[in-house]
Amino acid sequence: MNYFRKMKKELFEELKTSLLELSHIGSAMALLHWDQEVYMPKNGAEFRAKTLANLAGIMHEKFVSKEFEKLLKQISKLEKNNELNKNETIIFSEIWRQFSREKKLPLEFVRDLTETCSNAQSVWAEARKKSDFKIFLPFLEKIVELKRKEAELVGFEDSPYDALLDEYEPQMTSQEVSIIFYELKEFLVDFLKKIKKSKIKINPTILNGKFETEKQKKFNEFVIGKMGFDFGCGRLDTSTHPFSTSFNPEDTRITTSYDEKNLFYSLSSAIHETGHALYEQGLLSENFGTPLGESISHGIHESQSRIWEKIVGQNINFWKYFYPKLKKEFSQPFEKISLEEFYKNINYVKPSLIRTESDEVTYNLHIILRFEIEKDLIEGTIEAKDLPKIWNSKMKEYLGVNVPNDASGILQDVHWSGGSIGYFPTYALGNLYSAQIFDAAKKDILNLEKEFALGNFEHFREWLRNKIHIHGKTFSANGLIKEITGEELNSKYFIDYITDKYKNIYEL
Ligand code: CO
Repeated sequence: MNYFRKMKKELFEELKTSLLELSHIGSAMALLHWDQEVYMPKNGAEFRAKTLANLAGIMHEKFVSKEFEKLLKQISKLEKNNELNKNETIIFSEIWRQFSREKKLPLEFVRDLTETCSNAQSVWAEARKKSDFKIFLPFLEKIVELKRKEAELVGFEDSPYDALLDEYEPQMTSQEVSIIFYELKEFLVDFLKKIKKSKIKINPTILNGKFETEKQKKFNEFVIGKMGFDFGCGRLDTSTHPFSTSFNPEDTRITTSYDEKNLFYSLSSAIHETGHALYEQGLLSENFGTPLGESISHGIHESQSRIWEKIVGQNINFWKYFYPKLKKEFSQPFEKISLEEFYKNINYVKPSLIRTESDEVTYNLHIILRFEIEKDLIEGTIEAKDLPKIWNSKMKEYLGVNVPNDASGILQDVHWSGGSIGYFPTYALGNLYSAQIFDAAKKDILNLEKEFALGNFEHFREWLRNKIHIHGKTFSANGLIKEITGEELNSKYFIDYITDKYKNIYEL
């Protein structure tokens, strides 16, 4: 027994050392990515891509090396003999899951996929510029073929799409997603028709003005500081596309981008990315390098950004506190706009062509459409060449919108050209998680929304931290939701949230 304990301790130390090494390389890569988007001069791109590819190669080799495999197999014996404690089991199972997946993909295949996608991205950009899907089609066909191959290599039970979804939302199946999305779609399509018929007409252009970037930046810093973004452990910078990244819990970076006519362009992104950053800053430093120090899934990560951006950041109580301050900084045009009017305007609903510009009510329909299309593509029930037609008819059916060209339709998102198939559903899952989590927070924290009106976000932030962030990957996504809310993920909470909020705004 003693011999086993000692062996276990040594093996686990060895595992942790290897994982730490990989995590430090990962951090360095994240920093290089961040620099690429924020500071790198344009001619640096080619070398930077090679530096990153080399580091990715080193990581991959270390991860699938014979020594690492031997170590994992030794620990796997301990696991089978119930020699591992709870945390060790969590760490081992997650690493084993990742290892098995990576091991199933031959190097040749990974190279082919990486190269195809890296070429496809510039072709997609050109196709979008010329608004011509035919330019992108051969590359998309190749990517779909490779992703179907990937699904076969990884293995699946029911649908090959499950194997791809698993990379972004582990343990979720396409069947579960289909059921939840179907209910959501039924509700949203019908609810949107009611909003369109409402007598309340909102014109959000009254919120436009002339807002100096420097002043916007100060206001953004004030807001995210109040939310609890720790500037000692993070920075806010500017990039073309807002994003967040983290090197470790003590150094988390977010970016936003500015439009001098529209202040909410930068502010809502800053709030969104801060939601992501609070998750990363809330992970425990002592768990850095193991799955206990990592976020659960893309969907849960997105729940943290959307809960702050939409549920809190577009809540009337949030603005009871911030609106007087906004008015003081930017008297034009807000001086003459009442809080109630302002609130309605920031929550304006209008079906639009572009996903990233869509509101809280229509956003999930954009996602459901993409999920249905990519699932059918991978399952082989539709063909890539028919996508513009399918896309346009679904846009008409779900959102009532006519798509005038490929650029503002099928070609608008970068995801497929980068090989990210199975990613889209995590955006909508994030919204559903966020509504269900917020409902639980309201039950736990007395007068939660009244606290927002007083500018107090600490209770809420600490609640998220203690319920979600500090646990790392202790729970699966659905396990976490059950733990916090007592129920499996379902669309009821999101549907109730949307109904209550917009019935009031649009007087339905
Ligand atoms: Co996000």
